[in-house]
Order: sequence, then C-alpha cells, then structure tokens
Amino acid sequence: MTHKIELLAAEIANLKASNTEEVEQLRIKYLGRKGIMNDLMEAFRSVAPEEKKVLGQKINALKQGLTQKINELKENVAVEANCGDAIDLTRTPYPIKLGTRHPLTIVKNEIVDIFARLGFTLAEGPEVEDDWHVYSSMNFADDHPARDMQDTFFIEARPDIILRSHTSSVQARVMETQKPPIRVICPGRVYRNEAISARAHCFFHQVEGLYIDTNVSFTDLKQVLLLFAQEMFGAETQIRLRPSYFPFTEPSAEMDISCHLCGGKGCSFCKHTGWVEILGCGMVDPAVLEANGINSKEYTGYAFGMGIERITNLKYQVKDLRMFSENDTRFLDEFKSAN
Ligand code: PHE
Repeated sequence: MTHKIELLAAEIANLKASNTEEVEQLRIKYLGRKGIMNDLMEAFRSVAPEEKKVLGQKINALKQGLTQKINELKENVAVEANCGDAIDLTRTPYPIKLGTRHPLTIVKNEIVDIFARLGFTLAEGPEVEDDWHVYSSMNFADDHPARDMQDTFFIEARPDIILRSHTSSVQARVMETQKPPIRVICPGRVYRNEAISARAHCFFHQVEGLYIDTNVSFTDLKQVLLLFAQEMFGAETQIRLRPSYFPFTEPSAEMDISCHLCGGKGCSFCKHTGWVEILGCGMVDPAVLEANGINSKEYTGYAFGMGIERITNLKYQVKDLRMFSENDTRFLDEFKSAN
C-alpha cells in the first residue's frame, strides 16, 4: 500500500488541466464518491492494525496534497480565462486609419524640394504683418494704385497692421536680417478680401523665391524657372514669359507653361491657347534693395511668386477652390497615393 500511495503522490504532482471542466473531471476521478481516494480508504480498512497509524498519516497527507493541487489548478484556469477576456494577444489588430497629407501640403513640399535641390533655403514670416513689410518696403508708395491690386484685410484698431496679402513680405524680412548672397524659398498663407467662389477665396497659399547676389541676371531667373517647370510638370514642359508689372520688380514678367493636359494643342483647360499662367516674376527693383539695406550698385536679384492652389489645380484638376478648405475627408482621401 505504501508503494501505491507513493505512486499516486507522484501522479498528483504532475496533474494538469487547461479549463474548469478538466479540473472538475480530475476532482471526480480522485476525490469523488467512487474516486481513487475512496478506493484507497476502502483498502485501508483491511490493513493490519499495527500499520494503520503510519499508513493513515500517509493517506491523510496524500488527500491534503490532492485537495491543494485541485484548488491550485482551479485558480490557474480562472486566471487564464480572465486574461483571455482582457487582452487576446493572438487577435489580429484593429485596422489603424491613417490620415493623408493635405494636397496643398503635398504640392508645397514638392515645390520647396525642387528649389532646395537648387540651393534655396526655407524662410517663413508672420501672417499678421505690418504695412512696411507687405507694401512700403516692397516699393508700394502710400498712394500707389498698385495697393488696390490686392484687397487687404486691415486690423480695425491698428490700420498699420494687416493680414499679409502676398508672401513678398518674407523677402523684406529676410533682407533685413541676412546679407547677400541670399537664396530663399518662402511658402505661406496669404489673405485677400475677396468674395468666396469656386475661383477665388479670402485666403490662399503662395511660394515666393528670392535670389540676391553679384551679377544675378534675368537669364538666371529664366533658367531656374524652366528647370522648375520641367521638374514639376514633366521634361517636355515649355515656358513663356510675358511682360507684366509689379511694384517690386523691374522688369517684371508673368510666366506661362505649355498646357500639360493637351500638350499645348489647346483644350478647355487652357482656353484653347495651349498655355496656362503659373507665376509672376522679375528682377528685384533697385529701390526695393535700397529700402531693405542692400547696395543696389553691388547686388542684383530676382524674385518670383506663385499660388500653390494654382499649381495644385494644374496637377490634380481641382475644379473648385473651396474644396481645399472644407476638409471633406472624401476629397482628402483622393490624395492618399500622392502622400
Ligand atoms: N507677390 C506677387 C503676387 O502676390 C507675386 C510676385 C512675387 C511677383 C515675386 C513677382 C515677384 O502676386
């Protein structure tokens, strides 16, 4: 009998169960009314009286060990079951919804990247500006009719503080803090008091470029803009410069690119001209250099400015400008692949 008890003790020590049901089956098998312990007690009855004391102790110890083991197994499966409810590490994760970059950000980054490769560094300035940086330093006389070109938002309490109507103000901020050579690209939001429609908005985005050094010529400007147009719209893109007027550049020009939708043959997008206007540019007026503390005898420079919405429309044919600021996720999702 002693041997049998020892065998059982070893067996009990190795008992395993993976759920409550299995624990219950083990309990019945060992401790149930017709269980192994019961058989053992039956056999104990016929043991010789002189052996009873020692064997009785052994059987008691075995029963105690068994009860303890069954309780342990019960606890273990309960803990495992609870953990399973809280976190299932094997479950596939919920799909994470990724956002997209705004199309204007995508295009802005692309423009800035192209000019960064040409050695332009990024410069930014405030959207709430003073009259000096937006107009006076850019050669707009107080009564200059050109001020009417851009319908300015004024801050009521301070007529000299305005929302910048073009990013040319950043040119002024760069010139007042840096010495030539200057080569900067300035992206940013600008504001104009215009009625909101499919073709106009009270705020939009521009990228301005400024290069000032000794011997900078119109040829340099043209070459850089050609390279930009071809990087942005494809190697077959052609450019065309038309004389224009800006107070801060002289001479000034507007640049068209060959319509990349019809390849210059003429379509409704380019109004059957084969060309679409994309930016304004020119040689920095010597008066602007002087107003900003740069010797115009020693240095010359060029500047250009373009609307990011315009470039984005050309690339992605967005028909209505309002789409850019409505934050309709269906519209934004369309640019997922461009991210
Ligand atoms: N600031 C001009 C505008 O807002 C664009 C421009 C920039 C033109 C630089 C020439 C040179 O329309």
